[in-house]
Amino acid sequence: MMNAAFLVGKSLDHDRAEIGAALADTIPSAERTLLIELVADAFVDGYTSGCRDGTHEELVRWIDRMCEAHADTPAIATFFGNACGWLDGYLAPRGYDNAFRTPLRSLERPIRKVLAKPRRTTRPIQEQLDEIDAAINGMLVRLEGADPLTAEHSRAVAAWCSRLARRLTLSDEEVTFVSRCGMIHDIGKVTTPKEILHAPRQLTDDEWVFMRDHTTAGERIVQKDKNLIAFAPMVRSHHERLDGRGYPDKLTAPDLPLATRIVTVADCFNAMIGRRPYRPPMSPTRALEQLDVNVGKQFDADVVAAMHDVVRQGDRGVAG
Ligand SMILES: [Fe+2]
Ligand SMILES: [Fe+2]
Repeated sequence: MMNAAFLVGKSLDHDRAEIGAALADTIPSAERTLLIELVADAFVDGYTSGCRDGTHEELVRWIDRMCEAHADTPAIATFFGNACGWLDGYLAPRGYDNAFRTPLRSLERPIRKVLAKPRRTTRPIQEQLDEIDAAINGMLVRLEGADPLTAEHSRAVAAWCSRLARRLTLSDEEVTFVSRCGMIHDIGKVTTPKEILHAPRQLTDDEWVFMRDHTTAGERIVQKDKNLIAFAPMVRSHHERLDGRGYPDKLTAPDLPLATRIVTVADCFNAMIGRRPYRPPMSPTRALEQLDVNVGKQFDADVVAAMHDVVRQGDRGVAG
């Protein structure tokens, strides 16, 4: 049932991007990673949806899955332990209806219960990484079966993501994370009809509806695998734009974490320089011009600048 507070007064739904970013800002810089930023964003989204639906059971289940998947990253549990208190402190002086704040109090107990569950925290890091890699490889095998061109595109996007992340001086761990984002961003295309994926022409409006669905379909696929759940928000959002004209949620700049911005630039650049059934490949110079034209509207300026550097350098000294 739609909560009445969504219809009147200050809307949490409207402000969730700003709140997610502010929540991420509370995390000490030593613990603040791309993963935590995504988690903060997704927490505010999940809380907002729960207020809308009148239940936060799904949010609690998601927190449980995140804690299980990231048992060896204590910062995740610390974040969830503090999130409700912080959110209440943020909403209280800003005139939000009590309907948005009351659920926070009833959420604290189930979250505490989730955090108190014993987790397997002693697995060697390499074992966890292997599990994520195995899960991603499994996704790529699926994609390869459904559409080899999309699988090839995904590998190329992963390589661009990796180069961009290094150029942006992210840590080794973050370079790996962003590269994996590139690898599975289009996994939802396993559900897209082949005649649409391979249409030798521009798509019709009706066909675009199916094509756009690969974002939400991808999110559903990734969410089912505990090793990949952290990638779900990026898979859903990789066609969003900074100016709010993307899909599926028309998110705006504050709601688009750096990992997603990197994937978006790598994805569009690779699509432009690649072959399409209805047009010849664009030269890298022309593709960079297209990125430039859309800086601030579709693309992040720093990421586009990094793409210029990466293309100029070629592969010299840059690990793929
Ligand atoms: Fe896509
Ligand atoms: Fe793509």
